[in-house]
Amino acid sequence: MDGVLVSTEIYHFKAWKRLTETLGFSIDEKFNENLKGVSRSVCIDLILKHGGLEKTQEEKDVLAAQKNEWFLEYVNTEITPSNVYPGVINFLETLKQKGYKTAIGSASKNAPLLVEKLGIKKYFDAIVDGNMITKAKPNPEVFLKGAELIGVNPQNCVVFEDAISGVEAAKNGGMFCIGVGSAEILKKADFCINSFTQMSLERLNELA
Ligand code: G6P
Repeated sequence: MDGVLVSTEIYHFKAWKRLTETLGFSIDEKFNENLKGVSRSVCIDLILKHGGLEKTQEEKDVLAAQKNEWFLEYVNTEITPSNVYPGVINFLETLKQKGYKTAIGSASKNAPLLVEKLGIKKYFDAIVDGNMITKAKPNPEVFLKGAELIGVNPQNCVVFEDAISGVEAAKNGGMFCIGVGSAEILKKADFCINSFTQMSLERLNELA
């Protein structure tokens, strides 16, 4: 969802960056690639390691809660349905018309809130979010659960992913994976697109 269907990845980045600055260091976009698709608790561990800091679990929980408060502040003030990426709605509508099953597989605990706010819930048969999984991507749990909920064999699923860890999760689950973003970064994807404006049912059937 984040960074694939909607431009919310930037708000995660802004909130994490703001947090690191209160801790006396900073993160850049290159480091942020490691945070994409990764659960909040794993992100905090990666960030503290990057800054050379050690914190107790209680302190980490406080930091993660602060990040989430800032993330929600950005979401509540800045997000509207216009944040859904170009081409996404057209493609989802075609999939629905043709009877394809669709699911969101997100590490985010905020996924249900965002989906509601963006008005895209109606396009999905299932939503698997960060509250429903215990193993972070690259573990395939999130996608396998989605496949199970929509009743589709993993080998017959196509995952769209913008995160390195997410591409690995899809491949670990035995699924075809289309990277949304740079092929240089998403090296393990079966194919990459820059935007859903490049995607159609015909194209999908040619590729997968
Ligand atoms: C998504 C995003 C990550 C984010 C994670 C957890 O996978 O790509 O950047 O850290 O969700 O999000 P949450 O909203 O639960 O903190």
